[in-house]
Amino acid sequence: MAKATVQYVCSSCGAKAPQMLGRCPVCGEWGTYEEEIIQRSGPTAKRSFSASGQPKRLQDVEATEEMRLDMHNGELNRVLGGGLVPGSLVLLGGEPGIGKSTLALQVLMQQGERKTFYASGEESVRQLKLRAERLAGDAENLYISSETSLERILEQVKEIEPEIVVIDSIQTIGTEAIEASIGSLSQVRECAARILEFAKTRNIPFFIIGHINKEGSLAGPKVLEHIVDTVLQFEGDQQYMYRILRAQKNRFGSTSELGIYEMQQNGLREVSNPSELLLSTAREGLSGIAIAAAVEGARPFLIEVQALVSSAAYGTPQRSSTGFDGRRLNMLLAVLEKRVGFKLLQKDVFLNIAGGLRVQDPAIDLAVLAAVLSSNMDIALDAGTCLCGEVGLAGEIRPVNRIEQRIQEAQKLGFRRILIPAEQVERLNRSHKPGIEVVPVKKVTDAFRLLIKKD
Ligand code: TYD
Ligand code: MG
Repeated sequence: MAKATVQYVCSSCGAKAPQMLGRCPVCGEWGTYEEEIIQRSGPTAKRSFSASGQPKRLQDVEATEEMRLDMHNGELNRVLGGGLVPGSLVLLGGEPGIGKSTLALQVLMQQGERKTFYASGEESVRQLKLRAERLAGDAENLYISSETSLERILEQVKEIEPEIVVIDSIQTIGTEAIEASIGSLSQVRECAARILEFAKTRNIPFFIIGHINKEGSLAGPKVLEHIVDTVLQFEGDQQYMYRILRAQKNRFGSTSELGIYEMQQNGLREVSNPSELLLSTAREGLSGIAIAAAVEGARPFLIEVQALVSSAAYGTPQRSSTGFDGRRLNMLLAVLEKRVGFKLLQKDVFLNIAGGLRVQDPAIDLAVLAAVLSSNMDIALDAGTCLCGEVGLAGEIRPVNRIEQRIQEAQKLGFRRILIPAEQVERLNRSHKPGIEVVPVKKVTDAFRLLIKKD
């Protein structure tokens, strides 16, 4: 019989300790340590991945493009890096209720004749059937089972021989190989490791679904991230219907790609032109709104930045930001005060990115400031103008990446004018004439002058 010892592992960062700790010395989180039983021998210890161990000269290695399975779902293909790699293990994480099960089931239902298998430890076969009935797709060859034992699930996979497997969720299944309770860190890790080995030896791709907690990390998190090939994060605001799928880690592709879906009555609809969705139609004449030409991943889209500036009712003015980094907002407001001479000390400032989107692209800085300015002066900005530019501490407009794509997207959506960082104008490809007026701006003040000029 294998000899078992105990260690303690931080469920937030994966740090290990020989005894229980109240606070993790590595990541600083409180109360995150969990007991973990380690088996000294057994499958874990013997695991080996080097099948063809002989070293080769790099020159002699033939590298062909990875084969990819087309998922018949453009957004998912994009985020995976051009389709699913056979034998790969993909973790699909997200908060409860965001739509992970829906996405996974729907994707399997879109596979046509391809044989697929959905094993759920969360729902009964009947519940799965009910869910499937809401979704589009004919699911000719989709097998489902309600099962919590990993061993039995893998037996079923051997029997069915599917081309794609989904396990929903990693926190609700357990292996008999270790005694830890289902959902514990050691179970989650052991199951994932076994699934990985199974996926690699049989060349079957697996999606495993994992819940994340409020803080946004996967339960049993970092450990799992190291095991799997790809980590996809499904996110979005519960109130909004948009869902964003992003790769947090991808051994087979870039992590900057973004997939956008809309949750509807009959499942998730792919949003291939996000700009149209994210821009509200009735913004003409409203103050506090500015349109930014943003890029997430390799994809440009236009987003609506909304600001509300009002007199602070209480002593300390409030600063609140949704979808945009709060510290960055504070920095930008300081620039407004210092470089433009705006007095915002006695004002509450609320900022919101429409559609429940979270944007990291610094190129939306200029639109953020323009929205704040517009609200503060209660003057609507020209609805045919959009903006892009990072704002520096001196109030200067700094260059942004993929400028030509941004201009194109703005033009495609019918904007008449786009303000861009001055120094990038010279480097623009002169040969093609964009059907949009491109206006260079050097400083925030230049931009403001242009934006509120009455014509
Ligand atoms: P679900 O996939 O169960 O979330 P998760 O697996 O991430 O916990 O999604 C649940 C939500 O999606 C639920 O509130 C109902 C909603 N929903 C729709 O709006 N349309 C649909 O077609 C389906 C199946 C679910
Ligand atoms: Mg679910």
